[in-house]
Order: sequence, then C-alpha cells, then structure tokens
Amino acid sequence: MARSTLAGLILLAAVLTAQQQPRESAFRQAGVCSRCHVVQVLEWSASKHPAAGTGCQSCHGKSEGHVANERNEVKPDRLPHGDREVALLCASCHAAGCPKTSKTSGCSSCHHAHALSNPNDKQLRQTAAVTEDPRLAEVRRHMAEGERQVTRQDWRAAREAFAAAARVMPDNRRAASRARMAERRLNPAMPGLEIVGDAFDPESGLPLHV
Ligand code: HEC
Ligand code: HEC
Ligand code: HEC
Ligand code: HEC
Repeated sequence: MARSTLAGLILLAAVLTAQQQPRESAFRQAGVCSRCHVVQVLEWSASKHPAAGTGCQSCHGKSEGHVANERNEVKPDRLPHGDREVALLCASCHAAGCPKTSKTSGCSSCHHAHALSNPNDKQLRQTAAVTEDPRLAEVRRHMAEGERQVTRQDWRAAREAFAAAARVMPDNRRAASRARMAERRLNPAMPGLEIVGDAFDPESGLPLHV
C-alpha cells in the first residue's frame, strides 16, 4: 500500500514536471511582457503560437513606450478590438483564413485571441462528457482557497491561489479575472487619482471612490 502511494506520487511529480517545462520556457520566450502579464502568458502558452514563434510582440508590436511606462498610460503599439480588427490581425499571417472551416472572418468567435481554443466548444464537450475533466477539481480547490483569502483580505495569498488555478487551466476566464482583481487590490494605486476610503468593487477590485 505504502509503496503504491509512493509510486503514485513519483508519477504525479513526473507529470507535473513535464507540464511545467513548456510553461517556464514560455515565460522566457515572452520576455519582458511576462513581468506584468502572467495570465496572458499562461493563456498563450496553451496554444501552438509559442512553438510557431508568434509571440506577444508579433501581435501587439514592440511596445517599448508601454513597457517603460508600467501603468498602461502608454498603450501597446497594437491593440486590435472587436471581431473585424482581430480578424484583420489573424489574416496578416493566416491569409487563406481558417484551414478547418474556410471562414475568412469572425476568428474571435471561435478562437480565443491567446489560447486559440474555442471556449463554447469546450462547454459543449463538458456537459456531454461522462467523466469530468480531472483538472476541474484542482481548479475548484485553488479558487475556493482564493475566495477564502479574499474574505481575509490577504490579497497576496488570494492572487497566488487564483494564479495557481489559472496555471492548471489557462483558458479559465474566471481564474484569470479573479487573479487580476487580487492584483489590483495588492497594488491599488492609480496614477493621477487619490483613493477615498476602503470601499472597492468586489468583481474588478477597483476602488469605488476616487
Ligand atoms: C511593467 C509592467 C508591464 C509590462 C512589462 C508590460 N505591460 Fe502590458 N500592461 C501593463 C498594465 C498595468 C496594463 C493595464 C492593466 C491590465 O490590463 O493588466 C497593461 C495592459 C496591456 C494590454 C491591454 C491594453 C488595454 O488597455 O486594453 C496589452 C495588449 C499589453 N499590456 C501588452 C503588453 C505587451 C505585448 C508587453 C511586452 C512587450 C507588455 N504589455 C509589457 C503593464 C505592463
Ligand atoms: C495572435 C495574436 C496575439 C498574441 C500572440 C498575443 N496577443 Fe494579446 N491580445 C490579442 C488580441 C487580438 C487581444 C484583444 C482581444 C479582445 O479585445 O477581444 C489581446 C489582448 C491582450 C490583453 C488585454 C487583456 C486581455 O487579456 O484580453 C493583454 C494584457 C495582452 N493581450 C497581452 C499579451 C501578452 C503578454 C502576450 C504574450 C504572452 C500576448 N498578448 C500575445 C492578440 C494577441
Ligand atoms: C505573426 C503571425 C501570426 C499571427 C498574427 C497569427 N498567427 Fe496563428 N499561427 C501562426 C503560425 C506561424 C502558426 C503555425 C503554423 C500554422 O498552423 O499555420 C499558427 C498557428 C495557429 C493555429 C493552430 C495552432 C493551435 O494552437 O491550434 C491557430 C488555431 C491559429 N494560429 C489561430 C490564429 C488566430 C485566431 C489569430 C488571430 C487572433 C492568429 N492565429 C494570428 C502565425 C500567426
Ligand atoms: C466557426 C468557427 C471558426 C471560425 C469563425 C474560425 N475558425 Fe479556425 N478553426 C475552427 C475549428 C473548429 C478548428 C479545429 C480546431 C481543432 O482541431 O482543435 C480550427 C482550426 C484553425 C487553425 C488550425 C488548423 C490546423 O490545421 O490545425 C487555424 C490556423 C485557424 N483555425 C485559423 C482561423 C482564422 C485565422 C480564422 C479567422 C479568419 C478562423 N480560424 C475562424 C473554427 C473556426
């Protein structure tokens, strides 16, 4: 019994290490952007774009002013918004459109800009599946720990827990948005604005009165 548990642990460790490696190299590949955008690096590392050499700067531009500013007062060089602009960006490399569906527009209705996976498709598969994705239990555990830390107002621990959930499932939007909220509580300062009182929006983490 003890031996099989140990073997299980060793196997688990091996699986975790194998999963960890591409993620770490994704952080290295994302370079300076990974300093402030952990969630997006995780999303992007779930796709084949890193292996294809399509990095943050391929889509957002070099963005030197944005990096130097640190507060997004200077926007990245390129920030496409909406179906039309995003499709134009995709088409700049995928000139023939979607090889699977032959679509030439609406890329973002089926492909997440970073993870490239289709969130709607996944939901369909989840309800149809007999067994649940085993990662969900782990995600739920981290999310519950995160919410527990939120009630204690330990924003650092909350951020760690939500980020851990996002690492397990990079395309989980809830984990990403909770990690962002905790990050905002941890670094509440907003340039040019004075925060009045302690009240904040529980979803975004932004102060209610400035
Ligand atoms: C020193 C910190 C820092 C670095 C480094 C950094 N960013 Fe940002 N970036 C921010 C902040 C702060 C925001 C606004 C808050 C957010 O959305 O997380 C932001 C927002 C963005 C946005 C969304 C802009 C918007 O207003 O919708 C994009 C796209 C972006 N960054 C891309 C990049 C890319 C690409 C790099 C690497 C070349 C990079 N960032 C490096 C801090 C940084
Ligand atoms: C294939 C192109 C592509 C690549 C590669 C890419 N992005 Fe984006 N990114 C986008 C698009 C398109 C949006 C806008 C999505 C929208 O508004 O619906 C976006 C949005 C963002 C945002 C705004 C917040 C959010 O999550 O929507 C940030 C921050 C960001 N990207 C950072 C990064 C970083 C950091 C990297 C590298 C790890 C990266 N992006 C790689 C296309 C890309
Ligand atoms: C700077 C060039 C570039 C841009 C911009 C770009 N791609 Fe790609 N993409 C590639 C390359 C190169 C590959 C790997 C070869 C291939 O499959 O065509 C790839 C692969 C893919 C794949 C298959 C891999 C996977 O993970 O399933 C999808 C899906 C994809 N891209 C979607 C998009 C979407 C959607 C956009 C717009 C948000 C986009 N790409 C923007 C260069 C780019
Ligand atoms: C109606 C939904 C839909 C739209 C719209 C769509 N795609 Fe796709 N795309 C898919 C599906 C489904 C796949 C197959 C995914 C898989 O195999 O996991 C796919 C696969 C891809 C692939 C990888 C093909 C391969 O051989 O592995 C690329 C690249 C791609 N799409 C690019 C795009 C681009 C660029 C656009 C916008 C011009 C776009 N897609 C629009 C659904 C769509």
